[in-house]
Amino acid sequence: MAQHYFYAVCPFGLEKLLADELHAVGAQRVEAGRGGCGFVGGTETAMAACLHSRTASRILMRVAQGGYWDSRDIYDLVKKTAWEKWFGPDHTIRVAATAQRCPLESVDFAVLRIKDAICDRFRELAGRRPDVERHNPDVRIQAFITYDQVTFYLDLAGEALFKRGWRLTHGEAPLKENLAAGLLMLSGWTPEMPLVDPFCGSGTIAIEAARMAANMAPGLTRSFAFEKLEGFDMDLWREMKEDARSAVNPYAKVQIRASDISSLVVEKARENAARAGLSAMLDDGRLTFTQGDAREVLPPEGVTGVLIANPPYGEQSNPKSASIRSMMKSVADHLKAHYAGWTAWMLTSDRTLPGQMRLKESRKIVLFNGPLECRFFRFDMVAGSNRRKAAAEAEES
Ligand SMILES: C[S@@+](CC[C@H](N)C(=O)[O-])C[C@H]1O[C@@H](n2cnc3c(N)ncnc32)[C@H](O)[C@@H]1O
Repeated sequence: MAQHYFYAVCPFGLEKLLADELHAVGAQRVEAGRGGCGFVGGTETAMAACLHSRTASRILMRVAQGGYWDSRDIYDLVKKTAWEKWFGPDHTIRVAATAQRCPLESVDFAVLRIKDAICDRFRELAGRRPDVERHNPDVRIQAFITYDQVTFYLDLAGEALFKRGWRLTHGEAPLKENLAAGLLMLSGWTPEMPLVDPFCGSGTIAIEAARMAANMAPGLTRSFAFEKLEGFDMDLWREMKEDARSAVNPYAKVQIRASDISSLVVEKARENAARAGLSAMLDDGRLTFTQGDAREVLPPEGVTGVLIANPPYGEQSNPKSASIRSMMKSVADHLKAHYAGWTAWMLTSDRTLPGQMRLKESRKIVLFNGPLECRFFRFDMVAGSNRRKAAAEAEES
């Protein structure tokens, strides 16, 4: 099969995890960059990446690249590119461009010229041209324009890959599903370990974990832009999905407890989980969503595990800052009293969280939640005086 160059986009901080996922689906020459990974493979590799990657946001396929001086060169490069290999005049298209140190006066004008060139090529070839569709195009063309180079990609995902197809409503500031998957992977959680999220909101972390435990491919219940493109073997795609479907184990042994102070939010999270194909786990209590205050929620009895949460941020700019800070101190006291032996991970944009909690983190990882720079703090919850010893050791290391 012909080999192509692809670029997989992911949240900043998850590049290494994404590289591992790409290797696992057979990608070659995987190179982690900032906010994504380049790789080489056939169209089947890209389809597998769309289906199986939990951390990617998009998979882009490079279709042309060249140097340019002005927008006429860009027009010429687009005009001589064989777009008809991938789509036809009856597809709708949308062109977008990202520019870095680009000397062109107007990137919008460049976008217009790219669109004109594609349409002119089709008009000459077929007597018809693709229509432009802003909101739900069949084909998304992404141009990256640097100082003297322009690269064109086809977006194979369509809707971003973190949209797994189950979310209808939004709780307060939901995490993106691929960031939640990244948190679970970075924490070292595996399905044998009990998992608790006491600030669950719409349930993203718990749902993502349950789907991992059930070995449910993240892309199993959604469609992708490549399904409308030429050059992607749809028989093979159906086989891939069939294999992924038969690999699902809805009876996987797992113990996931999610809770939130808002009963409304909890109800929505449970609905989300059902839509995410997790009804069996909900029915027999392997996955629970309950209303509760993080200052009071108890862990499952007689076991230790991993707590992963994305609490409300108590930054100075937040008008509720003072009350969130004092709440986080109480949450910490509660964890110290009841979660000895657990590992607690918190994602927050508030760097002062460990101070607020009077806990010393044993690890911190810089991640981006969209544009928001965050820290993913790890706290090892140890009983009584050991706690101070562990904190001192963490300080020394
Ligand atoms: C940043 S959101 C979590 C978003 C979640 N990770 C998601 O993906 O939807 C914080 C959540 O904490 C909840 N919350 C605030 N105070 C709480 C408390 N004392 N106990 C439990 N939940 C609380 C809010 O209702 C909100 O849903």
